[in-house]
Amino acid sequence: MSQQVIVALDVPSVREAAGLAGVIRASWYKVGLELIYSKDGLRFARQLKMAGVKLFLDAKLSDVPTTVERATAAICREIEPEFLSVRNNVEAALKGASGITRIAHVPYLTSDREQYCIATPAPALVCSAHLARNYRHDFGILDKTLIVPGIRLPGNISDDHAVPAASCEEADFLVIGRPITRADDPYAAYKKFLEIAA
Ligand code: C5P
Repeated sequence: MSQQVIVALDVPSVREAAGLAGVIRASWYKVGLELIYSKDGLRFARQLKMAGVKLFLDAKLSDVPTTVERATAAICREIEPEFLSVRNNVEAALKGASGITRIAHVPYLTSDREQYCIATPAPALVCSAHLARNYRHDFGILDKTLIVPGIRLPGNISDDHAVPAASCEEADFLVIGRPITRADDPYAAYKKFLEIAA
């Protein structure tokens, strides 16, 4: 399949996040709202980048165009994530983006009733495995990077929105949080997902 695995560091403190990152030693991490709003969360995101790690900053920006543009510019200047997520005013985010940062559009949350978003100007889309399949096969969308959360190991599906890793080959990136971060052995769990995605 050859997909990248992004580990979602959804923990309440930089201390916990740093501890996990030290154990898992992943190539990609997602820093989302919980860590962004925790003490020194954004500084930690910057440190990950300085350590050579690739970063999906899941800020889910949503505001008027000028603010989205300026917030995007500030994030690119200060943190330079590989991906930055945006909920609305994607054109404004694209205007504000610079350097290596790619805008990932989150038109719908996978926990909500998702609809198709086939006309986004963003280079990347965050969507469920189900929509990823339809985007690729039914709509023939091949030029967007698809980032898919809600991934589990086979036999470990406990909610409606999750799918086993091997059944989402349309995704370019798999975002995996608790199945790795809450595993007894997070490093072994990460390795297992890497094997499936390889
Ligand atoms: O469920 P898990 O802990 O693997 O979630 C990892 C990340 O994926 C979370 O940060 C969450 O924001 C996102 N997610 C999602 N839709 C889901 C499940 C998780 O967007 N159905």
